[in-house]
Amino acid sequence: MSRPRILITSALPYINGIKHLGNLAGSMLPADVYARFERARGAEVLYICATDEHGTPAELAAAAAGQDVRTYCDEQHQLQKDIGQAFHLSFDWFGRSSSPENRALTQHFAEVLENNGLIEERTDQMIYSIDDGRFLPDRYVEGTCPVCSFRPARGDQCDNCGSLLDPTELIEPYSAVSKSTNLEVRDTRHLYVLQTKLQDRIRAFIDSKADFPALTRSIAYKHLDEGLIDRGITRDLAWGVPVTRHGAPRPGFETKVFYVWFDAPIEYIAATQEWANAASGRDWARWWRTDQGADDVRYVQVMGKDNVAFHTVSFPATLIGSEEPWKRVDMLKSFNWLNWYGGKFSTSNRRGVFMDAALELLPADVWRWYLCAQSPESGDSAFTWEAFQNLVNKDLADVLGNFVNRILKFTETRFDGVIPEGGAPGPLEDKLAADVSERLAEMTTAMAGLELRRSAQALRSIWVLGNEYLTEAAPWTAIKTDRDRAAVVVRTGLNLVTLFARLSAPFIPSTASVIAHAVGDGEGLAVWPSMDGAMELDRLPVGRPVKAPDVLFRKIEDAQVAEWTERFGGAPTAA
Ligand code: MF3
Ligand code: ZN
Repeated sequence: MSRPRILITSALPYINGIKHLGNLAGSMLPADVYARFERARGAEVLYICATDEHGTPAELAAAAAGQDVRTYCDEQHQLQKDIGQAFHLSFDWFGRSSSPENRALTQHFAEVLENNGLIEERTDQMIYSIDDGRFLPDRYVEGTCPVCSFRPARGDQCDNCGSLLDPTELIEPYSAVSKSTNLEVRDTRHLYVLQTKLQDRIRAFIDSKADFPALTRSIAYKHLDEGLIDRGITRDLAWGVPVTRHGAPRPGFETKVFYVWFDAPIEYIAATQEWANAASGRDWARWWRTDQGADDVRYVQVMGKDNVAFHTVSFPATLIGSEEPWKRVDMLKSFNWLNWYGGKFSTSNRRGVFMDAALELLPADVWRWYLCAQSPESGDSAFTWEAFQNLVNKDLADVLGNFVNRILKFTETRFDGVIPEGGAPGPLEDKLAADVSERLAEMTTAMAGLELRRSAQALRSIWVLGNEYLTEAAPWTAIKTDRDRAAVVVRTGLNLVTLFARLSAPFIPSTASVIAHAVGDGEGLAVWPSMDGAMELDRLPVGRPVKAPDVLFRKIEDAQVAEWTERFGGAPTAA
């Protein structure tokens, strides 16, 4: 039997700046945990991500940094790539939506959609800022809300009363870029994808995905039930994929580019092409073309809830409308928000922790564990320093770290640091094996279903089982009267150590590796355990030397919590 093949993509982080922990928790991290799990189970995994580089925010951020946008994106891409690595995100490829591959593929999709009668040119009225010399996207027009008089309200929505607005409705509008009030409404031509024509096929596609999680399905049906609208896929901008027709610049569109949300998901495919082009022997088409083997691929997408509509409606419209044999998503796992205390993460208000700052405080594994165990899975989840401290100290320091340390130190002092022989498992070991078998099955099922919290819970309960066993079996007492009995307990304990390492590896890969190597089982790490507890607790060869690692997790002190609360801001103050 050939190995299962699994394609995984996590939502592409936007280029403008290092992401905060909420972004990490809702896309890249869960995708990474799943990728590591499936690799250990023996699947051929391709985990693809990239920076999402086009659009007005990138242009403006570059201008604010005094850089041309290409240079800005080069730098920011490298930063995000490095920080991803520092968080142990095991991308097989971390691409760029500004790549030549994505340019060609985006233009290709527009071409075939048009050939299939699914593109129309229309005239829009847009706000033009004379002093900025550019059209302003809705949210870059600000002014007084016509409903509640709040100022500044954004042109797409009033943050005060929530009204959806058209920028032309704002009273005394001005450019959010330059503050200039020198604005006018101008006609501009744009391309629209006729999603109205694809409505039935998109609904049938979602109907066929009954196993999508409830959050994903509810968002998809909300949009389908409201009725799809035709979608503008071009913008008056310089930075993006140029608009072409028949391989040449499209007349009238010389100063326009494709909308960032049109080209970004196409980058999932284009990034796979980037991956293939980077080395010989790699074939992107067998992951993406159902006529070239991709029918056998299971494709899993991971993202925050704000991205779901784009992946259940817009991107499927591109793929379906092309009438070409593109691979479609098999499982779309979506997440709610990780909040900062009761409110939102906010860069401007200096509220929340961003990926780079997080690593200045603590190792990646500590954050990874917290963000998985408290995953905003079935609802929003709130970060607080106190809960973070509590969880890390309990799970990682007290339960996992302490167990590993206790048993290894004991082996060093009483058994010369060697896995001892002698004795045979008794009732305590039999019970442990049965309990472990049960939890292994539970955890494996949860992992396969991308159920992060349930997986973390099952893992924690296996750690707890180990601690309870050790306390009850008490090798430090047995050693005084019955060396063989103590040897059995120590052997079992050391096997638990390596089992912990293997099960923990998707969550805390770096620590898991330290733990596995402490018992000389680096190789076991790469393989997901069987469901057979008795076998898993009798894997390590007797006579092998082992060595206690340095402290695995330091406890977070109250003084640190106080310092970090001060530095990063705690509970948001009422606005
Ligand atoms: N950059 C988007 C965001 O941060 C996500 C893009 S996902 C993709 O919300 F589909 F476009 F790639
Ligand atoms: Zn308002």
